[in-house]
Amino acid sequence: MHKIDIELVDMTLDVMKYAIDRISATQRQIGKPRKASELKQLVGETVTPEGVGGEYAFNLWKEHLMNANVPVDHPRNLAFVPASPTRAAIMFDLVTSASSIHGAYWMEGAGGIFCENEAMKWIVSLTGLPEGAFGVFTSGGTAANLSAMVTARENWRLNDEFKREKGLIITSIGAHSSIKAMAKVIDVDVLLVDTEDVLHGKELKKTIDALPESERKRLFAVVATGGTTNAGIIDELDSIADICEAENLWFHVDAAYGGGALAADSVRHLFNGIERSDSITIDPHKWMFSPYDCGAVIYKNPELAKNAHSQQGSYLDIFKDEGAHGFNPTDYQIQLTRRVRGLPLWFSLATHGTDRYKEAVERGLELAQIAGKLITEHPNVELVRDPSLSCVLYRRIGWKPEDYTHWTYENHAKGFALVTPTKWKNGNEFETVSRFCFINPDTTEEDIKLILQTME
Ligand SMILES: Cc1ncc(COP(=O)(O)O)c(C=O)c1O
Repeated sequence: MHKIDIELVDMTLDVMKYAIDRISATQRQIGKPRKASELKQLVGETVTPEGVGGEYAFNLWKEHLMNANVPVDHPRNLAFVPASPTRAAIMFDLVTSASSIHGAYWMEGAGGIFCENEAMKWIVSLTGLPEGAFGVFTSGGTAANLSAMVTARENWRLNDEFKREKGLIITSIGAHSSIKAMAKVIDVDVLLVDTEDVLHGKELKKTIDALPESERKRLFAVVATGGTTNAGIIDELDSIADICEAENLWFHVDAAYGGGALAADSVRHLFNGIERSDSITIDPHKWMFSPYDCGAVIYKNPELAKNAHSQQGSYLDIFKDEGAHGFNPTDYQIQLTRRVRGLPLWFSLATHGTDRYKEAVERGLELAQIAGKLITEHPNVELVRDPSLSCVLYRRIGWKPEDYTHWTYENHAKGFALVTPTKWKNGNEFETVSRFCFINPDTTEEDIKLILQTME
């Protein structure tokens, strides 16, 4: 398995050809899932005592398995939060894999971690956090949110008074599901402010003031969102920062999706106040054009994260030695062994420069405005709310929830587009509506027009 022979050389060339085709393709197929039983029937047993051979397995992948996926970088994939990794970043993902780097400790991964840190410096500079702030790349927004919440909770518990308290955090119903899910993981309660729209400091203060003393005592953090997943809404970060400072609460901003827009001059002001947060989540695999998986968690004071996360063990003692000193990403998030997953972003930034990133993000914002205009001019559809960041919520006049579902499946089955419905809270009701999320700068006005035409 670890020897080199002619078969391996052939296989390497085949894999490289596949990668080159994929990286340089201008047309992509949307693909669609099939039942596991159907896939099994198509490919048969593949994991056997003798193995089926690389060439055979690779052909199965190309013929049957790859097109059972929906690539996130198709220009008419506007569902959930799609992605659009740059070709340079994808290429360097291959290099990252081929280089076998353990990215936990400087001692083993200095070169890779150095590159990650160069990319991280740029991301941190976008936030406006003060000198000393820094971050690390994680497997995604969920892991970044978890790492930040653990840091906040451990910092709170440094006070003996709270050592045995079960913590409480406040966020809004617009927050991403991962906040509630990760709160469960660390066994803290979540209080949800009942707004999917912008969360203001005023509402936050009202919520805190209404807490009984025993609950107030358990409250240690507030999570604001810098671009909600559903609608691209940015909470009023400045006024939330005021309250967090006055109430001595950890202030986390989940900008997993919206964080890329910090690079865009046209909307940067909407994030004012983010520079006052204690921690921030930004996903380069969303709007910073990195391949999966690449999230990031940034701390105003990384030492607090180190106190919370750094792992101890006799086998790890060497990393504390003078000769092994350097930046150890493992100390600032939940994972020990890690891929240097910021490396593809570094290469792409180095290749293209940060201005190109600004332009590509601005294009996503522009596409949302274009879609807003097209929807307004269209007789059968109307905006549910003005586009926010790159999210557009709109309704097809007269449609019931099942019509949206049927329409989604129909467009997907044709291999034409993937646009999925969502719900928007309208008074006390949740209305089913359609949603675009633009990330890919290759999406065109024509794509949007064609999608809207399918609703006529
Ligand atoms: C605001 C927000 N936070 C967190 C997440 C979770 O990120 P990930 O899927 O990378 O774990 C998402 C994903 O869409 C998100 O939009």
